[in-house]
Amino acid sequence: MNVQTPAETDFTHRLATEYDLPALRQVMDLAIAQLQRGFLDETQIAASRLVMGLDTQLVADRTYFLLEANGRIAGCGGWSRRATLYGGDHSTALRNAALLDPARDAARVRAMYTHPDFTRRGVGRRILDLCESAAAAAGFSRVELMATLAGLPLYRACGYVEIEPVVSETDLGPVPLVRMGKVLTPITDTSVD
Ligand SMILES: CC(C)(COP(=O)(O)OP(=O)(O)OC[C@H]1O[C@@H](n2cnc3c(N)ncnc32)[C@H](O)[C@@H]1OP(=O)(O)O)[C@@H](O)C(=O)NCCC(=O)NCCS
Repeated sequence: MNVQTPAETDFTHRLATEYDLPALRQVMDLAIAQLQRGFLDETQIAASRLVMGLDTQLVADRTYFLLEANGRIAGCGGWSRRATLYGGDHSTALRNAALLDPARDAARVRAMYTHPDFTRRGVGRRILDLCESAAAAAGFSRVELMATLAGLPLYRACGYVEIEPVVSETDLGPVPLVRMGKVLTPITDTSVD
């Protein structure tokens, strides 16, 4: 019998497609509900749903990754060359589809969620690596994101620095967030001419 311990699980990654949307929604729903406990109270978690969740533009742009283990989605997250910094399809006031300029702007890291069954196994870290490499390959030298309080420890551990605390006002109350950024390692051209 082949029983894998959590640490031995083989994760594979790929870009999400429209077929993944229902499963992605489920992972996000569980992560928002369960993994923000201890960082936010239940009222704040309810409010956070108004500024978190699925952004189908990321999937349509093919800049949204998922990590799978044994056919299950272990986590997801993406990057973007669009100006929207955070929020889901429903957060219309936060959306801005304008394209960023890699020479001047920071790419965005967006919508990071790990399934509660797969936390603290490097899923978030690995997705961040994928996002940063893809943004660097697209010519960006910096990335920015809007961190939830639950996301803050991951981003700090991965070299992100705090730019400013932000309070997102919603109909269900304020949600504390932190804008963070990171300078990317430039892609070096190893070809010999
Ligand atoms: C934030 C989130 C994506 C982290 O996912 P994860 O796959 O468990 O993170 P990783 O296993 O890659 O963690 C890497 C490192 O980040 C830090 N870290 C991650 N989660 C942490 C936590 N809850 N408490 C303290 N440190 C944490 C640790 O340093 C960890 O390394 P270690 O496990 O060796 O100590 C997940 O908790 C989540 O989905 N949260 C709810 C949704 C959310 O708020 N997303 C962020 C939106 S901005």
